[in-house]
Amino acid sequence: MAIETSHSVILVTGGTGLVGYAIQHVINSEPLGSRFGRRAGETWVFIGSKDADLRDPEQARMIFDKHKPTHVIHLAALVGGLYRNMRYKLSFLRDNTLINDNVLRCAHEFGVSKVISCLSTCVFPDNVTYPLDESKIHLGPPHESNYGYAYAKRMIDIANRAYHDEHGCNFTSAIPTNVFGPNDNFDLEDSHVIPALIHKCLQAKRDNTPFVVFGTGKPLRQFIYSFDLAKLFIWQLREYDDVEPVILSVGEDEEVSIKQVTDAIVAAVGFEGEYRFDPSRADGQFRKPASNQKLLSLLGSKFEFTPLDVALRDTVRWLVEHYDKDARIRRTNARKNGSSVTDVHPIGRK
Ligand SMILES: NC(=O)c1ccc[n+]([C@@H]2O[C@H](COP(=O)([O-])OP(=O)(O)OC[C@H]3O[C@@H](n4cnc5c(N)ncnc54)[C@H](OP(=O)(O)O)[C@@H]3O)[C@@H](O)[C@H]2O)c1
Repeated sequence: MAIETSHSVILVTGGTGLVGYAIQHVINSEPLGSRFGRRAGETWVFIGSKDADLRDPEQARMIFDKHKPTHVIHLAALVGGLYRNMRYKLSFLRDNTLINDNVLRCAHEFGVSKVISCLSTCVFPDNVTYPLDESKIHLGPPHESNYGYAYAKRMIDIANRAYHDEHGCNFTSAIPTNVFGPNDNFDLEDSHVIPALIHKCLQAKRDNTPFVVFGTGKPLRQFIYSFDLAKLFIWQLREYDDVEPVILSVGEDEEVSIKQVTDAIVAAVGFEGEYRFDPSRADGQFRKPASNQKLLSLLGSKFEFTPLDVALRDTVRWLVEHYDKDARIRRTNARKNGSSVTDVHPIGRK
């Protein structure tokens, strides 16, 4: 079912984060009426946790009542890198379970005609045959390091099927691989690998200190630039109607080692000092390649992914331009001064 152009309100939860920012950018910068650009009759609403804490059922209902969305891209989540996931397993489980339940229930109650919720390749079983594909989400326990996040996210797929079977809802999900880009969380300890490395490398350059990278540098990952991912979400919203999830990723042949990524970051930052790995820190899963075959077969035409070095250069430039004035980096710095994950979204926590 295509989006009706007469009157569509597309609510993007998590609209202030990395992926939400990218969707805002793409929808506003692609040509009007194009495959990924804004279309006549569409209203896009991007909300963050200041608009409504979606862990709270009343606040969730209030925001749906206010905007009366016809479509929802559901990105809002407690998100973090390996170390944050290892430290706050219960918070990742509870917050994300509450958020997802409230959003899907409101979408049903308010008659939303389509919801795309965001999973992650982190939700897949630890012990599974590679490459990952859409049929393998529930085939075994996730990696120990992030089971709180993984189980909460997996349940979205179950809920989508149950909403479909019981109420005929058109709810589906997307499974992105590791995302990076402008407006990421650049916290030095709590963020994903690329933003943490970029921030650390910029600091090493500024302070003329060694650039030390946690882990061995050997694990392999697929990375997707947030602006590419944003286009794929817009495609999925407009052109895909099935409860089955779709992996949104670059191809398996685009897997790169953390060392390769770090080399590219060092080049993008222009860092010329000492740089080494610290193998005493955890590496996480060694590799978890995901297949994008389903995506490519559905897209129907060739999709150009931004080359990694170009995307990294643009992300570094964005961080340099926003370093002192960006709220997300200020939030990051506040957390370093003794506050915890709890302080980011205080409602409903002890
Ligand atoms: N980043 C990745 O590598 C990656 C990979 C795979 C999947 N994903 C998924 O992609 C989605 C977007 O991730 P992201 O990287 O854009 O995350 P992000 O930058 O951390 O943004 C998270 C968003 O969720 C909102 N949010 C968090 N808690 C909330 C709450 N209690 N109530 C309402 N809103 C809340 C945040 O609002 P405020 O900022 O306004 O507080 C923000 O807009 C998530 O579902 C994530 O699981 C991310």
